[in-house]
Amino acid sequence: MLLNDSEPRLAGRVALVTGAAHGIGLAISRRLALEGAAVVLNDVDRTGLAEAVAHIREFGGQAASAAGDVRRPGETDEMAAVCEREFGELHILVNNAGLLRPAPMHEMTDEQWDAVVDVVLRGAFNTIRSAAPLLMHQDPDPAFNRKVVTISSVAGVHGVPGSVNYSAAKAGVIGLSKALAREWASLHINVNVVAPGRIVGTMIHASRDEHQRPHALADRPQVPMPIGRLGHPDDVASLVAYLVSPDSDYMTGQVLELHGGMEVIPRR
Ligand SMILES: NC(=O)c1ccc[n+]([C@@H]2O[C@H](COP(=O)([O-])OP(=O)(O)OC[C@H]3O[C@@H](n4cnc5c(N)ncnc54)[C@H](O)[C@@H]3O)[C@@H](O)[C@H]2O)c1
Repeated sequence: MLLNDSEPRLAGRVALVTGAAHGIGLAISRRLALEGAAVVLNDVDRTGLAEAVAHIREFGGQAASAAGDVRRPGETDEMAAVCEREFGELHILVNNAGLLRPAPMHEMTDEQWDAVVDVVLRGAFNTIRSAAPLLMHQDPDPAFNRKVVTISSVAGVHGVPGSVNYSAAKAGVIGLSKALAREWASLHINVNVVAPGRIVGTMIHASRDEHQRPHALADRPQVPMPIGRLGHPDDVASLVAYLVSPDSDYMTGQVLELHGGMEVIPRR
């Protein structure tokens, strides 16, 4: 598929997406590129990252690679530097990198707690702080909003039993985003959160080894979704594309749940 000739909604925008080699992050990167943005993809998985960048370039999208670990501030600084080197600026940041380490509360280890909180919460903090000088750059057009979107989860809004680390970290990024939305509102930087429910083809179907067990939600009996199907990474990408576009310039500090009507997480 090639980009068509009409002016795409995100033409001229530069985006950084973390955890972009697979799943939701890849779908977001692909969608932003299709809408005309130049996309810098980040991931710790260098092989997957190279494939993701090649995939976007194949359909005519602009993409660059910024391998690195969001837990390390020096590496998030380098991701921002890649944006500036490759495309000269940065308008959109999507904090998507995440992982699961489920365990019952009384059995959860320090390692499991730290692994999730460090990537999800510390990682979002590191990446936003590194991107801040570029995002805060005063554009001559004050109506030209910049955008930060963080991928939380229904776990961060409602809590998921068996994943207190994940639920706490995903709630943490909501608090961070709500505070930052107010801190940066006068700079015309919108800060919002997407909280997906079950999304197929992603970490919820990951391998079942001890450290990559599927999402606690996936362990539960399948309940019919009110909307009749599970979510797809492209569903998340569509919402993110709206939140980083000029169409959402008046929206900030919001948490948008995306769960096909799944109001309550079923108990085990
Ligand atoms: N899949 C779901 O059902 C679901 C539901 C709600 C929220 N989410 C959230 O969506 C986001 C994407 O999840 P997914 O399901 O696509 O998972 P995924 O495992 O397919 O993708 C996550 C990506 O993050 C990368 N990553 C992990 N640690 C990293 C680090 N330290 N630095 C940089 N990259 C790192 C991984 O290599 C991977 O490519 C996560 O934040 C997840 O918590 C997923």
